[in-house]
Order: sequence, then C-alpha cells, then structure tokens
Amino acid sequence: MSTTHFGFETVDEHDKARRVRGVFDSVASRYDLMNDLMSAGLHRAWKAYTVMVADVRPGMSVLDIAGGTGDLALAFASQVGPRGRVVHTDINVAMLEQGRSRLIDAGVVLPTLACDAEALPFGDEQFDRVTVAFGLRNMTHKDRALAEMSRVLKPGGKLLVLEFSTVARPLRKLYDWYSFEVLPRLGRWVARDEASYRYLAESIRMHPDQRALKTLMQQGGFGHVDYHNLTGGVVALHVGIKC
Ligand SMILES: C[S@@+](CC[C@H](N)C(=O)[O-])C[C@H]1O[C@@H](n2cnc3c(N)ncnc32)[C@H](O)[C@@H]1O
Repeated sequence: MSTTHFGFETVDEHDKARRVRGVFDSVASRYDLMNDLMSAGLHRAWKAYTVMVADVRPGMSVLDIAGGTGDLALAFASQVGPRGRVVHTDINVAMLEQGRSRLIDAGVVLPTLACDAEALPFGDEQFDRVTVAFGLRNMTHKDRALAEMSRVLKPGGKLLVLEFSTVARPLRKLYDWYSFEVLPRLGRWVARDEASYRYLAESIRMHPDQRALKTLMQQGGFGHVDYHNLTGGVVALHVGIKC
C-alpha cells in the first residue's frame, strides 16, 4: 500500500482524492466568500499578478486546471478574443458548477470540463498557456500532474502555478497563529466547516517549498523555471516554459 499526506495525516494514496473531494464538496457554496475573508481580498491581487505574467494574447488557447469557481478563466476569457479559447476544468463538479454559474452571470460561455489533472483528456501540445491556482497542493501525484501539464502545452508554452508556499522567517510565528487559530474558526463560523480549513493550513505546510517545487517542475519537463514570492512567500507564482 502506498501512502501520502492529507494535511498532517498519512493516508492511503487511493483515499486522498476522496478526502479532497469531500473538502471541496463541503466548501463550494461558500468558497468565494471564504477566499475574500481569509485573505482580506489579497487573493484577487495574487490572481491579477498571475494573469499579468501569463501574458495571454488574442487567439491563444488557455487551459485552467483546478479552476474551481473560475476567477482565472473569467480573466483570460476577455483576453483571448473570439479566435482564442479558454477551457475551464476541475475534478470537482460542485466547484465547477459554482464557476459555471459565475461565468454565465458575467455573460461568458466557456467549455467547462470535469477532469483529473493527473490524466488530462487532451491531446499533446494543444495549449499556449496552462494555469493552476491553489490546486497543485491538493493533487496526490504532483509529478504526474506536472508531466500532464507539460504534455498538453505547445513547445514554448507557459505553465503558471500559483500556490501557497513557505513564508519568510520573520512572518512565521504570526502566520502559524493565523493559520491554526484563526482560519479554522473562520471556517466554522462562515462555512460551517472547521475541518476543511484546518486541512488547508496543514496542506500548506506539507506542500513543497519554493525551491522544491521549482525542482519538481524542472523534472516534469520545464526548461526555464522561475518563481515570484508574493506577500512574503505566503504565496508563490512559479512560471515554467516547456522546452
Ligand atoms: C483551492 S481550490 C482553487 C480554485 C481556483 N483555482 C481558485 O484559485 O480560486 C482547489 C481546487 O483544486 C481542485 N482539485 C483538487 N485535486 C484536483 C485534481 N487532481 N485535478 C483537478 N482539480 C483538482 C479542487 O476540486 C478545487 O476546486
């Protein structure tokens, strides 16, 4: 039996995806509100920075993986224009449904697809950009997911991974207090789900730090990998070019 981490717990590999699904089934309807509350709106700036670095141009093909409620897909939709396309994907149907409703409310109709990042249902070299925001951390086999992202990118295409990361040392005490004392309480009050927000705090600690993720991306087929620390490393944007 192979094991992996679900937060600080060690679980059977086959069980992780089910547990992660439980988290997002539970939080889907309050996901956007919780994001704004937890980050004091900062997630909007982190995503806006990602969109800027992505440098999407008219006519491009963009795949948003673990797209959830659709923030990035929505931003890219206006950039690709009528000749381009944005595909909004996630493994979780409840999250996708929230995203699809938001996109439609904004007058945007995109292909929305339920799929696992570790086995993408697309041919090789189809996309100019692949993005994954706050999703990689939840995947059981990050190496497989990264290899899939590389496979579907065109040569010279860009992968953008926005994810929680390892904060700068002077911020650590405060950040730990916030993560383990405040976040679960917010989860209990707003989303009626303390456990999922405890998982969030724990999963961030178990995620590879900036350098380790850079190495994983290099091993996954990306030739030029760089990262940008945001908000003192609370979040990092990793950018890889498929060579
Ligand atoms: C924290 S949400 C991020 C949603 C959105 N990208 C955002 O930034 O607001 C993480 C998402 O990752 C998705 N996810 C987890 N494992 C996945 C997998 N193996 N393949 C695709 N999506 C996955 C979850 O269903 C969830 O919607």
